[in-house]
Amino acid sequence: MTKATFHISGSSKPLRGSIDVRGAKNDILKGLAAVLLTKGDIAYKNMPQIEDVDRTLELLAALGVRMTGKTARACMLNASHIKGHILRRDIAEQIRASIVLAGPLLARQGKVRFPFPGGCVLGKRPIDLFVRGWQAMGARVRVVDDEYEFSASRLHGADITFYKVSVTGTEAMMLSAVLAHGTTTLRNAALEPEIPHLADFLNSLGAHISGAGTSTIVIEGTGGSVLEGPGEFVTLPDRIEAGSFAALAAARGGKVKITSCNPEHLAVPIEILREMGVRVTVGKDFMLIERTGKIKPIDMIKTREYPGFPTDLQAPFTVLLTRAQGASLVFETIFEGRLAYVDDLNRMGAYITPCDPHRVLVNGPTELRGRRVESPDIRAGLAFVIAAAIAKGPSVLEGIYKIDRGYEKIEARLRRIGVDIERKKS
Ligand code: EPU
Repeated sequence: MTKATFHISGSSKPLRGSIDVRGAKNDILKGLAAVLLTKGDIAYKNMPQIEDVDRTLELLAALGVRMTGKTARACMLNASHIKGHILRRDIAEQIRASIVLAGPLLARQGKVRFPFPGGCVLGKRPIDLFVRGWQAMGARVRVVDDEYEFSASRLHGADITFYKVSVTGTEAMMLSAVLAHGTTTLRNAALEPEIPHLADFLNSLGAHISGAGTSTIVIEGTGGSVLEGPGEFVTLPDRIEAGSFAALAAARGGKVKITSCNPEHLAVPIEILREMGVRVTVGKDFMLIERTGKIKPIDMIKTREYPGFPTDLQAPFTVLLTRAQGASLVFETIFEGRLAYVDDLNRMGAYITPCDPHRVLVNGPTELRGRRVESPDIRAGLAFVIAAAIAKGPSVLEGIYKIDRGYEKIEARLRRIGVDIERKKS
């Protein structure tokens, strides 16, 4: 684990230039999990070089998945000879998405064992939806040495209604149902773009999934036949990274082109930026962000499941709102622990009033002052980078492993548009 810090000199100098978006963490991690359902060569492309991808590749290697042709952003995986049913505890405890590997492993091996998945501390983050789903498909669960063990000689199709919309819950059940005996229907499924992308990839290998991208997904199981290859998974552009760059450009001002992204996945954040007086021009795979005038407050930003405003953009947009000419309400509806970072933002000079665990009032405009802060999670970590970049004076950001978990060499890319940021090894 890197023990490094970011040293950022804040400035009000407008940003200029263009910045490239990498592949989405929350897309590639599910694509990698899907290899466990296959026995042919699968080519992965546009993979971001981030810690969570490396950890997932380590989990897969420990299960016997062979990797060849590794380059910076591509590799070939082959899962024809996988062994065992245990997800390495030391790794699975670090990333929430490790639970997505459990479904295909259970389907393929008839058994899976894993610890309570780790990842960002955003609240309780229970796994009851997964447990119920696998039980409905015929799996038995027991707890052994503090770890979950699910087993089923064969999974059968089931009619599963999620009482709450869950992204990884939907993905995990979809992956589990692909090899099952019979039909699985997932109701109140999540709609995030990663889900139809995963379904299209699985279908290209011979799975039978329909309705992905709507709230009802139907999966006709293969009855135990492992999917064939070869196949190709081209990682979607990271909509959260693109949206965060847009928040940064709007907060600091100037003219920044965000390239290799898909603005269609950011319709609501783009409308919010426009509402705030930011000029956003979109093309098929780019966004141009221009801001010279003052930023208008917004009555409320409410996080919601896709296509609503993403919770992963809540912290960057809260930083932006500290610049707005008036008060704006931020309402976090997905995770109960995702506003904890505002204390540090207030220490930097923001004037944010907590209303209750889910809502804060951002009173703008305020001038932020640089200081030493620690990155609490991936997304709030990047929000602190934005805060430091618009603050007066220098900041030191600690705990940047959490930023490296989700963003590839962020400092090199931000420097190109005018942010004064340097990584220092301590
Ligand atoms: N929930 C339950 N029970 C469950 C599962 C979820 O109550 O069994 C609750 C959660 O606690 C939360 C709500 O359901 O209140 C929705 O959570 P969801 O399951 O959709 O979140 P997730 O799948 O764990 C993914 C992303 C998150 C992103 C959320 C929401 C991955 C690996 N993670 O998490 O991304 O914030 O969806 O869009 O896909 C990040 O990348 O930094 C990150 C946290």
